[in-house]
Parts: sequence; C-alpha cells; structure tokens
Amino acid sequence: ASADPQKGAEVFKKCGACHSDQKGGPNQIGPQLWGVVGRPVGTEAGFSYSDALKQHSGPWTFDELFQWLKSPKAYAPGTKMTFAGLSKPEDRANVIAYLNTQSDS
Ligand code: HEM
Repeated sequence: ASADPQKGAEVFKKCGACHSDQKGGPNQIGPQLWGVVGRPVGTEAGFSYSDALKQHSGPWTFDELFQWLKSPKAYAPGTKMTFAGLSKPEDRANVIAYLNTQSDS
C-alpha cells in the first residue's frame, strides 16, 4: 500500500507534544515543522539545534526523514530529540506523507 497522509495525521499525535505542524506555528520543545519536507536540516529560525543534528546538512528528503524517524539517536548521536523513533516503516512513511501536506508548495 502507498503512504497514507490521513493515517500519518494519527501518527503525528506522538509528535505534537513537542512540535507544531501549523503554518506560522511556534517553535516549542522542538522546531515547528510546517514545510519541513525539503527544508534544509536544522535551519528553522529561532530554534537552538544540537550540534549533533547540525552535523547533517542538505534538505530533509523522504529518505533522510525515514532514517531520522527510525531512530533519532542513531541518526544524530547526542540529538536533543528525546523520542525513541517509529519502529514500523509504514508509520514512518505515513507521517512523512502527512508532513508533506503541511507545506505551502
Ligand atoms: C527535531 C520530526 C517527535 C523534539 C525534529 C526534526 C524533525 C522532527 C523533522 C528536525 C527539524 C529541522 O531540522 O528543522 C519529528 C516527528 C516526530 C517527532 C515526525 C514524531 C514521530 C518529537 C518528540 C519530541 C521532539 C516527541 C520531544 C520529546 C525534537 C527536538 C528537535 C527535533 C528537541 C531538535 C533536535 C536537535 O536539535 O537535536 N523532529 N519529531 N520530537 N524534535 Fe522531533
């Protein structure tokens, strides 16, 4: 089955404790995620990222997000994102499909 943004919206409830996904939303515990698909890593204005995440650069592609969300700690050892990750590949694919809808483009 292909990725389902509506299922991803359900998965995103796990993220919403720390992240806004709304246009113009605030940085909270984590950076706001409106437009994050395609956004360069660690560049949301006003958010203080870890040095660990800043080791990465380039845009948040589907593949990079898929790796990051499997295990943030493995992707960026020392990251401030204290979230175990999404072990199910379909949850990762669906939440990325959802995030891709939360964007101007
Ligand atoms: C960073 C997504 C859950 C806290 C990020 C980034 C993404 C992301 C894409 C990098 C953003 C950027 O480069 O601007 C998600 C998703 C989640 C989730 C999709 C749910 C599946 C959480 C939770 C927390 C959290 C539950 C808090 C306990 C943070 C923090 C950062 C971050 C603090 C900055 C990391 C650093 O600078 O090392 N998240 N997140 N996230 N997230 Fe999450």
